[in-house]
Amino acid sequence: MSQLCVLQAGQPMDIERAIIRSAQAFEQHELVFGHGTSEAMSEASWLVLHALGLSPLEAPDYAQLLTDHEINNCNELIVRRINERVPAAYITGTAWFAGLSFRADKRALVPRSPLAEFILDDFFDLINPSNVSAVLDLCTGGGCIAIACATQLAHAKVDASDLSTDALSLAKENVSDHQLQQRVQLIESSLFENINNSYDLIISNPPYVDAQDISDMGEEFEHEPLMGLAAGADGLDLVRVMLDQACDYLNEGGLLVVEVGNSAQALEDAYPDVPFLWLEFANGGTGIFALTRTELTEHAEHIKAGLPV
Ligand SMILES: C[S@@+](CC[C@H](N)C(=O)[O-])C[C@H]1O[C@@H](n2cnc3c(N)ncnc32)[C@H](O)[C@@H]1O
Repeated sequence: MSQLCVLQAGQPMDIERAIIRSAQAFEQHELVFGHGTSEAMSEASWLVLHALGLSPLEAPDYAQLLTDHEINNCNELIVRRINERVPAAYITGTAWFAGLSFRADKRALVPRSPLAEFILDDFFDLINPSNVSAVLDLCTGGGCIAIACATQLAHAKVDASDLSTDALSLAKENVSDHQLQQRVQLIESSLFENINNSYDLIISNPPYVDAQDISDMGEEFEHEPLMGLAAGADGLDLVRVMLDQACDYLNEGGLLVVEVGNSAQALEDAYPDVPFLWLEFANGGTGIFALTRTELTEHAEHIKAGLPV
């Protein structure tokens, strides 16, 4: 079988050409995006700049000519992305979330939640940041949401929990990279099982993919841990428990914010009387609701009715 070669050494090629050619190859091979980028040019740019040792935060000189050695380095990553269908973050070992850099590998999902915008934009004024001294990031994965919250809320203590010891070991490295060991505590727990504190904000991007979407997902998603994605027939297995138990862990005036993605309609159908506030994002993304502690308490009966029998 002939080996795939996207970027051919021995011909003049600048950075822009390398990115465009790589993006064309991604499209020809029908790659699936959604792990921090949503289209071929951004994904190609990420990999090419990484291969050249350039930061994605600084605009490169796109007219810079590449040496043969650099072309070969770029080609290696581009071909791997095509042949193995590995998300770019797992190839580079790095992902960006809320303007921060994180280690990313197969121990946890690639960070990509729209919650980054919610955190950076002062929690959309749904809660006064200066009143938030305790945060729980349930289902923290590699810790990106917890670390972004701790960075944004300079005085808050953040608990970050997950059931996966693999995810928690990655989160530990990320917490240490960001020097937040004093304020971010990692807890191994199935949802609230080992949680003993109370919080002003509980924030979560849990598994919420329903059975149909799991079977339709692109190959790229198979590189991520299934327990980070799958959440039963309607995608609500974990969210149901969160709704039922969150008010026991929220302080007076506290807020619950949860991403449910494509399972938003299933949630509305399962809880028609619960007044979910669906957040709107300027940078894209849907399926994230907020509920106050008061709303959770007032609708406790409706919420109990949505639990499986
Ligand atoms: C969608 S990933 C989100 C990771 C991270 N919050 C992010 O936004 O990138 C969901 C995480 O939930 C964890 N998880 C799955 N079941 C869990 C459970 N019963 N209790 C706690 N965490 C769980 C998975 O290990 C995974 O890390």
